[in-house]
Amino acid sequence: MEQTEVVKPETLDELIKILHKTFESECINVEEVQDIMESYESQPHEWRKYAKFDQYRYTRNLVDEGNGKFNLMILCWGEGHGSSIHDHTDSHCFMKLLQGQLKETLFEWPDSKSHGDMVQKSQRILQENKVAYINDSIGLHRVENVSHTECAVSLHLYSPPFETCQTFDQRTGHKNTVKMTFWSKHGERTPFENTVSQENN
Ligand SMILES: [Fe+2]
Repeated sequence: MEQTEVVKPETLDELIKILHKTFESECINVEEVQDIMESYESQPHEWRKYAKFDQYRYTRNLVDEGNGKFNLMILCWGEGHGSSIHDHTDSHCFMKLLQGQLKETLFEWPDSKSHGDMVQKSQRILQENKVAYINDSIGLHRVENVSHTECAVSLHLYSPPFETCQTFDQRTGHKNTVKMTFWSKHGERTPFENTVSQENN
């Protein structure tokens, strides 16, 4: 396999350019993407225009459409905001902390015969600038800002892009398909009819 040296992106724009280049290739090297995203040092003035918070729940804000190969978005988590347990629709999911901390809880896929609580595999706290990776073969997860005093901001890359995912009830393992929506796109608030109370990711 070809070994590529990771170029350190100095700005968010540079990171996006490097990601475009990297995703031109048909086969994605997970570690390489992780390294690229991790080597960008978060500078709030570069991403603040995308970081739009809601009082009641976390928001998804589209940053870049990655030439159709990926979606890059910024998620804004107020104090105590969290996702439901969800899958990633057969895509790669990279998640970088731009500000604050997030708790990630990993779950096993429920099997059709299982009843009751879903099985928790692990839990970890993601720190600023670190990049976590998940896909459906690793399992399902829930992401939460457990802080009562600090908000959190994370940068997510999904490849290929997807619009629906499945959410799971922790007590029963029952699943639902949900359509994901954007609170804003390219720094502009998305019209209301497109943002009705949707979950995830
Ligand atoms: Fe996720």
